[in-house]
Amino acid sequence: MRKPIIAGNWKMNKTPYQAQVLVKQIDEYELDPAVEAVVCVPAIDLQAVNEVLDGSQLHLGAQNMYFEDHGAFTGEISPAMLKDLEVEYVIIGHSERREIFKEDDALIQKKVAAVLANGMKPILCVGETLEERVAGEEEDKVRGQLLKDLEGLKPEDFEKVVIAYEPIWAIGTGKTASADDAEAMAAFIRKTVGETFGKEAAERVRIQYGGSVKPDNVREIMSMDDVDGALVGGASLEAPSFISLVNYREDL
Ligand code: 13P
Repeated sequence: MRKPIIAGNWKMNKTPYQAQVLVKQIDEYELDPAVEAVVCVPAIDLQAVNEVLDGSQLHLGAQNMYFEDHGAFTGEISPAMLKDLEVEYVIIGHSERREIFKEDDALIQKKVAAVLANGMKPILCVGETLEERVAGEEEDKVRGQLLKDLEGLKPEDFEKVVIAYEPIWAIGTGKTASADDAEAMAAFIRKTVGETFGKEAAERVRIQYGGSVKPDNVREIMSMDDVDGALVGGASLEAPSFISLVNYREDL
């Protein structure tokens, strides 16, 4: 069975102090133990959040990482630095990193491999632009990203790999892909993983949907067979909405 995973991607929000306050607020509530709840915080907040995570129900995630162990890479953060702060998940290849910071699939592939080599779990983001969807090219785009970004992985790695399908046109726009569209792409991603890495890998890999997920649409999205979780931006920045997302199985 794949454990549902609801992850907050705080993006470039919250100072270390604000991050501690939010994590403490979330921890005042009981979170559904059947759901894995992750907060992917800015790198500068990791230490502060780690300090308040003892006994917490939350898992810690980062939003990016460089693939080299150490060296002359000004401004970058290594896998060992994240591990030292007890980071468990690392978002790799978010569309904002691909678009604004010009990360390409060759770089993203190295990062995914480095996350796994360092005993952490990648949340690999894939997804198409509006133009690609209008042109009916969304599957080709996502398939291309998957084949390049996951190259070299072993079937057993998929116990740890999370793939987040984030259609770029649905991020921060209030436009959500319909639950059927999310399911269609999640099923396509699982099929592609199966064809490339085998049936067990396809059964193990957890697939999230991301893009304007809110407390009022999370249940429908999570009811889809191939959707195992959500990667949430805006609605993860306040304790009450993040808690309702994680506790989506309970009556609201
Ligand atoms: P929003 O939930 O704000 O649309 O952001 C989605 C996202 O990019 C999560 O990684």
